Amino acid sequence: MKLRIALIVSLLALVVVGVGGVTAQDAPSGRLEIFSWWAGDEGPALEALMTMYGEMYPDVEMVNATVTGGAGVNFRAVLKTRMLGGNPPDSFQVHAGQELTGTWVVANRMEDLTSLYEEEGWFDAFPQGLIDQLTFEGGIYSVPVNIHRAGVMWYIPANLEEWGVEVPATLDEFYASCETLQAAGVTPLVVGEAWTVIHLWETVALSVLGADGYDAVWSGELSPNSPEMVAVWDEFGKVLECTNISEDAAGLSWQQATDAVVAGDAAFNVMGDWAAGYMSTTLGLTPGEGYGWGEFPGTQGTFTWLSDTFGLPVGAPNREATLAWLRLLGSVEGENAFNPLKGSIPARIDAVEADPDLYNTYLQSAAADWSSDRLVGSLMHGVVANERFVGDFTQVIDIYVQSGSSEAAASAMEAVCFQAGACGT
Ligand code: GAL
Repeated sequence: MKLRIALIVSLLALVVVGVGGVTAQDAPSGRLEIFSWWAGDEGPALEALMTMYGEMYPDVEMVNATVTGGAGVNFRAVLKTRMLGGNPPDSFQVHAGQELTGTWVVANRMEDLTSLYEEEGWFDAFPQGLIDQLTFEGGIYSVPVNIHRAGVMWYIPANLEEWGVEVPATLDEFYASCETLQAAGVTPLVVGEAWTVIHLWETVALSVLGADGYDAVWSGELSPNSPEMVAVWDEFGKVLECTNISEDAAGLSWQQATDAVVAGDAAFNVMGDWAAGYMSTTLGLTPGEGYGWGEFPGTQGTFTWLSDTFGLPVGAPNREATLAWLRLLGSVEGENAFNPLKGSIPARIDAVEADPDLYNTYLQSAAADWSSDRLVGSLMHGVVANERFVGDFTQVIDIYVQSGSSEAAASAMEAVCFQAGACGT
């Protein structure tokens, strides 16, 4: 008996020393650089996470390094120079899918996080379809903080009412309302700088091709130079005629395009739901009253998804602090601090139900659709094509805008697919 008690006491002592030892040894310190494009009014959600991390690990000096520019268009050039130059940040923002696996993982620049996933129980916490997009040849390479929805039609209900326009269910209804709005001096659909036009293109492509056809483009089953794709460009041209593409588009950030809708200069904007974050968190509008949303004509029942993730680059200066950062990102608490401000829903399957009141009516509707709609991956936001393809696709759009030729655009897209090793090539 005595022996047993002595054994238990010494085991307990071991556990206490052990836990204390691990904590003391593992408590990260030093500098931690988090690199993203969430600058300015894109920043509040990231800042909430960083504040949380700062409270958990007061010995870490956090550096919030950003490169301004929606969708990471400027950020990616800086990241490339740093990664190729052997100067990686501790952790950086990267979209799930090809932007991660077909860009940085194939280049052997990311650490495999399988053991972290096992320790944290993340194989059960994230949807399998999402995990698949973070996996390459058996390894898993980043931690998702959210799910955003792309291709949503945003509008201001009171403005539509004033103009006598309803949210169009079909492209023909859209073209009809386009005429009404143009006659009233209103831009029917506002676009901004180049990447927002690619975002519109992928939405039109989904509308014309349907989800199976859209997927077939990226898997290589539907040629970019097929009659179906020529039809996508034809329709895209008709949609563009309802926009400001030949006016001020190139100079507008996505926030300024959203502002044009809010100000009543434009009726609709097709954008991801970071626009909901902007309208709720920054502009203080109430979802459903101050702003409304709908599915782009012909895309009903589909959900174009993308996910912001962070990983651990090979050679990250502060590995321990980065692993603690990733643990926070993938936790229920971390995801619930971030997403309500960001306009996205958690990537974890259990986070909304842990605290549903955090999520406004827009986010509740996105969460419901995420679990019931047919999912397709976003092109512009890294899911279905690698970084090189997305970068070069801007030129394909330019060729179309300048020539007005659907055939020329379809043929140019085929060439870019080959060059980038995208579209199943
Ligand atoms: C997306 C990103 C979003 C948001 C948006 C606008 O690519 O996933 O989180 O930042 O760009 O910049």
